[in-house]
Amino acid sequence: MEKETVDFLIIGSGVAGLRAAIELAPHGNVLVVTKDRPAESSTEYAQGGIAVALSDEDEVGIHFEDTLRAGDGLCREDAVKILVEQGPLRILELISWGAAFDKEGSKLDFTMEAAHSRKRILHSHGDSTGKELERALLKKVISFPSVRKYPFAFTEALIVTADKCFGAYVLIGGQRKALFAKSTILATGGAGQIFLRTTNPAVATGDGIAIAFRSGAVLEDMEFIQFHPTVLLAPSAPQFLLSEAMRGEGAILRNIHKETFMKSYHPDAELAPRDVVTRAILSQMVRTNSSHVYLDLTHLDNDFVKNRFPRIYATCLQYDVDITKELIPVSPAAHYIMGGVKTDKNGATNIRGLYAAGEVACTGVHGANRLASNSLLEGLVFGARAGKAAADYGLSSSGHHVKDAELKDSKEKAAPDRPFPGRHKPSPDMEEIRHLLRKLMWERVGIIRCEESLGEARKKLEEWSFIDDRTFMTRRELELKNMYEVSKLITESAILRKGSVGAHYRSDYPQTGDGWERHIVWKKEESLKYEFLK
Ligand code: SIN
Repeated sequence: MEKETVDFLIIGSGVAGLRAAIELAPHGNVLVVTKDRPAESSTEYAQGGIAVALSDEDEVGIHFEDTLRAGDGLCREDAVKILVEQGPLRILELISWGAAFDKEGSKLDFTMEAAHSRKRILHSHGDSTGKELERALLKKVISFPSVRKYPFAFTEALIVTADKCFGAYVLIGGQRKALFAKSTILATGGAGQIFLRTTNPAVATGDGIAIAFRSGAVLEDMEFIQFHPTVLLAPSAPQFLLSEAMRGEGAILRNIHKETFMKSYHPDAELAPRDVVTRAILSQMVRTNSSHVYLDLTHLDNDFVKNRFPRIYATCLQYDVDITKELIPVSPAAHYIMGGVKTDKNGATNIRGLYAAGEVACTGVHGANRLASNSLLEGLVFGARAGKAAADYGLSSSGHHVKDAELKDSKEKAAPDRPFPGRHKPSPDMEEIRHLLRKLMWERVGIIRCEESLGEARKKLEEWSFIDDRTFMTRRELELKNMYEVSKLITESAILRKGSVGAHYRSDYPQTGDGWERHIVWKKEESLKYEFLK
């Protein structure tokens, strides 16, 4: 098998991976591997914006309080403090690197989103904030000759021995390659693709969570999945997000009889927390026996709507919906996983030399429900911190010499050497299982869960246990294996949490329940562990 040794390995090239690369670049050679093209990440598609306490009327203390409230009692306060305090610095730095945020006159323009008590969401080109972040970060990354990128390199497994990480095995150009590194950062994003309806791009298959778990990394908060209330539901249209910022600018929800309904669910109406809006929409869909509700912007000035949401306007028109004149059919979809690979405040996992940042990580900043537009900020703040910690570790005696003996040992133990014909067509039954898995997770482990639905999901997942033992040969199949692993972890966590907190809603336990403040923590080959937050 081909082998390559670098100083630092980053898996994933969204906001967290790229920000980490910038931090690492002065300290050695950095390799960024992605399973698709470099810009193909959830970051690229983020619309609404990035939350930061920088406006004249805002304070970091208020951003802190709003984040804790959204997290429903399960945020790690020290991590949230870091997020809101270091956020402004990271944004100003990004602006100095050329990121362009929209302005009102000469001042940055902040908008409102649900559960924020101040206007604090920065946006770019109206509704293409993630694209602008990705552009500015990639431009900065390219300015460092020490950073190289391997696109279309699928990470199959981490190289871990004795709880120490030495890099990863990737599949590139149909071949398997060992990439050895002093420290490795996982920045692979989320897992939305395990649900039939999702806002996430096709690459979001939970790969980082699954490979880290198989190598002995601790996972936390896997039951907390955030569902976005407003996703386009038009014939032949993709599952296209309709940003919360639209409601921030005055868009109204109506049921299929054109009646408004949000005021009867929450005093903040359309700007109630995301999980409340999602469940309200679902209950209206059930009540009216309909597949959708409507988002209405027709009362807003047409030119304002076109200028403020140019990408959404153009995309909806492509599917024959003129958002300035017509009601937009919408329904909820899976959007973000709050749980993931457990890290400390510096992105360190329980495996030495392995760091995680961005959606794949569970830093604890989101608790049971993420405050809107906090995730790009988390990627910047904790991407930089993980980069710094990975550099310190790599340059210290622990990470300094990746000894040949250790490499040989880890190479043999981590995965058998075998050829990888990457262009093989996936077998049809695997495609069928992928579809059925996504349907199962959406219908049984989705927005509203109960003992019965979760039990059915567990039973079906057990029937597919052969997935764990099969040797897979293609990216699609390896993704399925990861999706299956993550689905089991979400389902089991949802069964264990007999109560409703944040985005996890159990119809059979609508109250928070005893011991709600505990976090569910998983580690492979150990029985479930609970950990007390306070
Ligand atoms: C949106 O634009 O509604 C998504 C923002 C987010 O999920 O933070």
